[in-house]
Amino acid sequence: MEHKVCVTGASGFLASWLMKRLLLSGYHVIGTIRHLGKKHKVEHLWKLEGPTERLELVQADLMEQNSFDKAIMGCKAVFHIASPVPNHISNGPKAEILEPAVQGTLNVLRSCRKNPALVRVVLAASSSAVRKFQWHGRMGYVHMDDVALSHILLYENKASHGRYLCSSAIMDNDDLVAMLANRYPGFPFPKGRVSLRFTVVHTSALLKL
Ligand SMILES: NC(=O)c1ccc[n+]([C@@H]2O[C@H](COP(=O)([O-])OP(=O)(O)OC[C@H]3O[C@@H](n4cnc5c(N)ncnc54)[C@H](OP(=O)(O)O)[C@@H]3O)[C@@H](O)[C@H]2O)c1
Repeated sequence: MEHKVCVTGASGFLASWLMKRLLLSGYHVIGTIRHLGKKHKVEHLWKLEGPTERLELVQADLMEQNSFDKAIMGCKAVFHIASPVPNHISNGPKAEILEPAVQGTLNVLRSCRKNPALVRVVLAASSSAVRKFQWHGRMGYVHMDDVALSHILLYENKASHGRYLCSSAIMDNDDLVAMLANRYPGFPFPKGRVSLRFTVVHTSALLKL
């Protein structure tokens, strides 16, 4: 099973889990990264289990046409994960999230069209794109390893097509904190009604915790 597959946005949280699973499954993985010079963003990838001779990193930017040609050429699958997930938004979500996500996906798909060997494109979206999941502060939670494995399952299963949702529990902040407090009684969780502030942390920083 040593054929080549491409994962876009290799420095990211989901892509890192996916690349770990792909390497363990025997694939040759080509990951795309926006800035080759920012080595700290990808140093965790070189420490993944699985032989690193099956890992390659190639520069590609969502906003540059033809940028993904080199990474995608010769691959049988493309897992398109790269998408802007900004820490804070100063110019509005349309300019900072929507437009680069849509234009970037079109750029990736145009590169896919140039590769006659390509069998399948698996495209990651998010439950945050589905309003129902966020009504009244409720959100869907799922382990990232399950999301990564789902992507591989969708590629390997010839019958898969269309859209799939990967979700485990849907809960509000209070349920989430109660569940965590029950599981980790030694941690100082807040009591009473909970207002959570989410902080964006990069994968390479998470691995140092
Ligand atoms: N985290 C979750 O729980 C989860 C679950 C399911 C689906 N998803 C979806 O999966 C996708 C990735 O999420 P994530 O949590 O892994 O986010 P993340 O850690 O912020 O990763 C985003 C990746 O996209 C890359 N990227 C952003 N803008 C780019 C550009 N212009 N050109 C090339 N690469 C660019 C980033 O590169 P840089 O490092 O250079 O910024 C990074 O590698 C999102 O669509 C998200 O909604 C996330």
